[in-house]
Amino acid sequence: MSANPRPSVPADAARRAEWLRKEINRHNHLYHVLAQPEISDAEFDRLFRELKDLEEQHPELRAPDSPTQRVGAPPAPGFRTVEHPVPLLSLSNVFDADELRAWYRRACDYGDLKNFDMVCELKIDGLAIALTYEDGVLTRGATRGDGIRGEDVTANLRTIRTIPLRIGGDGHPRVVEVRGEVFFPKRAFEQLNKDREAQGEPLYVNPRNAASGALRQLDSRITAKRPLDFFAYAIGYANDSATPVTQWDTLQTLRDWGFKTPPWSRRANDLDEALKAFEEVGGVRTKWDFAIDGMVVKANERRIAQRLGYVGREPRWATAFKFAAEQATTLLKEIRVNVGRTGSLNPYAVLEPVFVGGVMVSQATLHNEDDVRRKDIREGDTVIVQRAGDVIPQVVGPVLSKRPAGSKEYRLPKECPSCGEPVVRDPGEAVTRCVNSRCPVQFERLLEHFASRGAMDIEGLGEKLAKTLIHAGLVQDVADVYSLESRRSELLELERMGEKSVDKLLASIDAARQRPLSRLLFALGIQHVGNEIAELLAGRFGSTDALRNASVEAIDEIEGIGPEIARSVRQWLDTPGNQKVLDKLAAAGIDPHEDTAARSGPKPLEGKRFVVTGSLERYTRAEAQSLIKSLGGQISGSVSKKTDYVVVGAEPGSKLDDARRLGVTTIDEDAFLRLVHKAPG
Ligand code: IVH
Repeated sequence: MSANPRPSVPADAARRAEWLRKEINRHNHLYHVLAQPEISDAEFDRLFRELKDLEEQHPELRAPDSPTQRVGAPPAPGFRTVEHPVPLLSLSNVFDADELRAWYRRACDYGDLKNFDMVCELKIDGLAIALTYEDGVLTRGATRGDGIRGEDVTANLRTIRTIPLRIGGDGHPRVVEVRGEVFFPKRAFEQLNKDREAQGEPLYVNPRNAASGALRQLDSRITAKRPLDFFAYAIGYANDSATPVTQWDTLQTLRDWGFKTPPWSRRANDLDEALKAFEEVGGVRTKWDFAIDGMVVKANERRIAQRLGYVGREPRWATAFKFAAEQATTLLKEIRVNVGRTGSLNPYAVLEPVFVGGVMVSQATLHNEDDVRRKDIREGDTVIVQRAGDVIPQVVGPVLSKRPAGSKEYRLPKECPSCGEPVVRDPGEAVTRCVNSRCPVQFERLLEHFASRGAMDIEGLGEKLAKTLIHAGLVQDVADVYSLESRRSELLELERMGEKSVDKLLASIDAARQRPLSRLLFALGIQHVGNEIAELLAGRFGSTDALRNASVEAIDEIEGIGPEIARSVRQWLDTPGNQKVLDKLAAAGIDPHEDTAARSGPKPLEGKRFVVTGSLERYTRAEAQSLIKSLGGQISGSVSKKTDYVVVGAEPGSKLDDARRLGVTTIDEDAFLRLVHKAPG
């Protein structure tokens, strides 16, 4: 029993909470793991709210397995390092049938076996984690780390709905460690990148990196907003021997305990059956909403696995049969540029369609101008195209031997392809932007974003209608949306707008008037202000008026917001056109207010001055700066003798030279992570 109510809690409240917890966890499992809900969302919400209220009245009832704990906790100063009781090992790789055959023969020889049964499973391209359950309750979750030591990310893992907070059924060991893979679903990943692109933020390379980014958030409330998911595939450690003796039964047991296991697995009695399984999975590998990078072949019987043992850090009893690299060559016909909502010019490749990794690819992202020039990709080149992590197609580079004579190095246009105004690139920035606030494509994107789901959520106002309204001159800024009511007759003149659809549009605009401040701030499309930053701003200032009066320092002071973001917000607020929009919105009654609550937390980097230079792998520069600030550190724009650390990423600029000249400590990304995570709480 995890809840240990003190006498002050009435017994019936404690009983009710216990019942609610069980019931909610059961429905969670039915909904998220089995996809067989028994009750409506509304009924579920009612149960949830009742439990939350009870726990608010009696905080002692807040048990670690309570479903209310899935929403995330305030930021942690860093992650604790934890030692794995049994190391998390890696797998050897094989790339073709011959190599698999050789692996199998070696294992048989070593174990003096003629044959052994195997289980073939999907190799999920995510992050390995280990979950510890004590008396059935999730008490710890850790990343793989270096296999011996990982990071304690329990608070973040709790937010994943398919990770049971309490394991069901009876007969589970008193202490047991369940292992598996956390992953970011493919479709959600594509959406995330689309949002980031619109936001002017750098894209994640693949779902795996996005999963890693989400799992390593110090603020688990942010993790809670990411659609992370989990598959269990092994029992790492159990304090008694009542665990299954085969891998096949282990998967069943894990399901009985309430986990999702990978949705495809096959038993193979010999090598030929394993090869057949691989062929089968190769044919269906793209049908799932998660990335897989091969098939894991494991000895089925624990007895055999024990006999085969390990070579170094890899088991002899299992191997990963990897899919062949997914690359193809094709002609790059043209490099085009689209304009994002924040005016960023995003180059992309138009390709002669080619089949890569199971799908037809006719376009690929080119990130930014520097990337194109570094790889020296040119129009007319034959290029190598790759599907990274099963999702976004990328251009790896040109095949120089096939380059046509007279090709030219690539340069972004000097004028915006949408409005023709000159574009600018700030020193130290990888992104080139159109800064014309009247640029039509930007405004189309902005209006679409303003009305989108996570923003003001105006049903029916999507890409097409946004364009139509702008072209008809009915909307010149986002505030004009709220005066459409008075332009009914003009709306009726638009193509495909009858009485009914006009009524519907006006009704949904009206229905969307009461969105909270955080949504409005997000909807405005301020560069770097995603919904998380918007919430921080709303929580600190409470109204657009208060935000307008805030100094850049006051914004910068918010935990989780760094100087780059603060500057971007202030700059937006200082732009006269934007001030007019805020005035118009307020006049139209769009002026939400929120309670402000000061946030505080430990400040382990208090008093330390940092400079960040070059590009980091795991964070954007803005994110790294926010992280430092959230831990109490200070950010400077240039290196001086007072600087404590210069964090050096790839391709650092002159700041690295400055640091060396002045004898300031420089640290790379790994050292930075260690510093941040070791920082005592
Ligand atoms: S079993 C002794 N099963 O692959 C290692 N691993 O390259 C036991 N992985 O670190 C691992 N899907 O993160 C196993 N069905 C699966 C897997 C799987 C993905 C990952 C895991 C591991 C890595 C090794």
